[in-house]
Amino acid sequence: MKKIVIATKNKGKLREMTNAFRDLPVKVLSLSDFGELPEAVEDGKTFEENARIKARFYCEKTGCACIADDSGLEVAVLGGAPGVHSARFSGTHADDATNNAKLLQELERAGVEESPADYRCALVFHDVDGTEILTEGRCDGVVGKIARGTNGFGYDPYFYVGNRTIAEMSLEEKDGISHRGEALHKMVERLCDVLGEVNT
Ligand code: IMP
Repeated sequence: MKKIVIATKNKGKLREMTNAFRDLPVKVLSLSDFGELPEAVEDGKTFEENARIKARFYCEKTGCACIADDSGLEVAVLGGAPGVHSARFSGTHADDATNNAKLLQELERAGVEESPADYRCALVFHDVDGTEILTEGRCDGVVGKIARGTNGFGYDPYFYVGNRTIAEMSLEEKDGISHRGEALHKMVERLCDVLGEVNT
C-alpha cells in the first residue's frame, strides 16, 4: 500500500488531515514516524509557496510521498495580518495562547471589538517522482474579542462563523466549513484519480 506522510508537527492539523484521508487506500504516516528530522525553512511569501517548500522538503527527507499544509488567519482591520506569519504572530517562541493574546492586543489597538477575517489553506501533495498537486480552501468569518469553545486549535476560540466559534464545533462540523476541510476534500478527489491510475 502506498505510504503518504502528513508533513506537519501541528497536532491540530494532523488530527484534521488524518481524519480526511481515512478512507483512501494509503498508509498514512506522520513525521513522528521518522524520528528526528530537520525543520523546513518556510521562507515563502504565500501559503502556496510555503506548502510547496514543506511538501518537497519532507518528501526528500523521508523518501515517501508527502502532503503539507500551509495556512493562516487574515484579519481585515489588520490589513490581512498575520497571514503567512500566523504561527509566529507573537514572536519566535509563539504558541496558541500568546498568538491569541497578540490578536486581542491588535484588535484593541485598532479600536474595534471585532473584524471580518478569513482562514486560508494551501495543501500540496508531492510524490517521489515529482508529481505535485495543489488544492486550496478558504473560510470567511469574524474575529472577536470573546473566546468561546475548547475544540480546534490556534485562533479557533476567537473565529466566529455565524454566532458560534470554530472551537465550539466538532471535528466533523469544522471539516464541513473550514479552509482546510475545503482543501482536503479537493485533495482527496484528486488523489483518488492519481491512486486509481496507480492501482490499475
Ligand atoms: P503553519 O504551520 O505555518 O501553516 O501555521 C499555521 C498557523 O495558522 C497555525 O499555527 C495557527 O496559528 C493558524 N491556523 C491555521 N489553520 C488554523 C485553524 O484551522 N484554526 C486555527 N488556527 C489556524
